[in-house]
Amino acid sequence: MDKSEALATLLGRVPTLEPGQVWLAGAGPGDPGLLTLDALAGLTQADVIVHDALVGERVLALAGPQAELEYAGKRGGRPSAQQADISRRLIELARENKRVLRLKGGDPCMFGRGGEEAIALAEAGISFRIIPGITAGIAALSAASIPATMRGVNHAIIFATGHADGDFDWAALAKTGQPIVIYMAMRNIGNIVDQLRRGGLASNTPAAVIVSATTSEQRVLVSELARLPELVRKLGFALPGLVVIGGIVAVRERLLKLVAETEAGR
Ligand SMILES: C[S@@+](CC[C@H](N)C(=O)[O-])C[C@H]1O[C@@H](n2cnc3c(N)ncnc32)[C@H](O)[C@@H]1O
Repeated sequence: MDKSEALATLLGRVPTLEPGQVWLAGAGPGDPGLLTLDALAGLTQADVIVHDALVGERVLALAGPQAELEYAGKRGGRPSAQQADISRRLIELARENKRVLRLKGGDPCMFGRGGEEAIALAEAGISFRIIPGITAGIAALSAASIPATMRGVNHAIIFATGHADGDFDWAALAKTGQPIVIYMAMRNIGNIVDQLRRGGLASNTPAAVIVSATTSEQRVLVSELARLPELVRKLGFALPGLVVIGGIVAVRERLLKLVAETEAGR
């Protein structure tokens, strides 16, 4: 198959969002360029798009003219939608024979309650499809020039939530020695850092906070574990942020230095 044939095949295989069906789709981390073709197909075909706060205006602008937008998020000072209400609403819309796109930031099933919604739809006998998205934990690292894995640095990578219920064992994660990417960590960062240090992570372990990754508001602050709470305070809580802790963070400096040297030599 030559290149133009391959491209035509790709563009010609747009899946159909059927009436009465729900797609649980990921919108990626923010930049519309990081949407999948299937999520884009859902945006253009849906009658109703039930979206989270992390789905930005540049993505929603791609919705078809027939689409009604319904907000079901938990940010921006608007009242929080309860998970059971969101699932009920998806079922209701599907029973009205609407083409429903449930659009979430990143990947729908990564700290995104996509699993709960899929179960609710399945229990109600509603036809649904899960469309993966690029999760912020992967996208933010690459966008910040921090490789998720690097030979000689790590053999694994841990994704965690800073909102963990109850007695989450941060010390056990520290003991693995592998890098940890923490979603929703900003408000609880002091406590998380204390526990990781008690678990044996050195206070000078490289660490970074990445805010609004892949958008025009992206900011990356690099420091060491002990100074993370200070860094987070500096950035505030208004924008979504990810915390990364581990040796992979140090690769960024090496990489940026090499790029700067190359550019200076041009
Ligand atoms: C409820 S979780 C949803 C995660 C999403 N399902 C995903 O796969 O990326 C929300 C958290 O994801 C992280 N996040 C999402 N988008 C981000 C971005 N563009 N930059 C930095 N962090 C982001 C933040 O930690 C935020 O508090």
